[in-house]
Amino acid sequence: MSNPLEILKDNWLQAKSLKDASANFCSLATVSSAGEVSVRTLVLREVTDDSVVIFINNTSPKWQQLHDSKSFELLVFWPQLMQQYRVRGEAGEVPVDLMREQWARKPYDAKIIDLYYSECQPQSSVVVSRERLVSDINALKQQYPRDSDIAFPEIAKGIAIKANYVEVWHNSATDRLHERNLYRLSNGEWQQRTLVP
Ligand SMILES: Cc1cc2nc3c(=O)[nH]c(=O)nc-3n(C[C@H](O)[C@H](O)[C@H](O)COP(=O)(O)O)c2cc1C
Repeated sequence: MSNPLEILKDNWLQAKSLKDASANFCSLATVSSAGEVSVRTLVLREVTDDSVVIFINNTSPKWQQLHDSKSFELLVFWPQLMQQYRVRGEAGEVPVDLMREQWARKPYDAKIIDLYYSECQPQSSVVVSRERLVSDINALKQQYPRDSDIAFPEIAKGIAIKANYVEVWHNSATDRLHERNLYRLSNGEWQQRTLVP
C-alpha cells in the first residue's frame, strides 16, 4: 500500500517548483486542556517518509497544548495544485543536536526573538505595549550584537509529527468529484480507504 507521506513529499516538491505561495506553510490545530481549539500558521520545515516537521518553542501555548492533549491536526493546502493534506499522529521532539544545527541557520532577528521568549516573556503573553516590546528587543540586540553571540536557546523545539492518519484531497478540475483518500497506519502498514468528497 502506498505511503501517503511519500505522496505528500513528492507533491510538496511540485508545489515549490510551481512557486506556490503556500508551499512552505502549514496550519496546526490543537486543543487545550479546557477543550478550547486553536489553529495557527507555521513554517513547514521538513517532510520525511514517516513524519512532518515544524519548529516551535516551549514557551508557547501550542507547546503546552501538544503536551496536554494528544488531539491535534496539521493541514497543508497548495492552491497551485489544489491539494489538501490533513495529518495526525504522535508528536515527538527533534533531537537537540539536530535542532541546534537547524537553529544556527536562522536569521539574526529570528534568533533575537527566540532569546526574548527565553529571557523576557513567553510567546503569546501580553506585553505592556508595543514600545516596551521594541525597547526590550533593542536591548537584547545591544547585549548580543553579533549572530555568533547568541547561544542556542533550549526553548527552541523541533516537533516531528510521526503520522498515523493522513487524508489526501486532490481536486478534480472537470467534475467536482474530488479524490479523497484516508490512510491509516495499522501494524506498520498503511491502509487506504476512499472517502466521499
Ligand atoms: C506565515 C507564518 C509563518 C509562521 N511560522 C511560525 C513557525 O514556524 N513557528 C512558530 O512557532 N510560529 C510561527 N508563526 C506564528 C504562529 O502562527 C503563531 O502566531 C505563534 O506561534 C503563536 O502561537 P500560539 O499562541 O498558538 O502558541 C507563523 C505565522 C505566520 C503567519
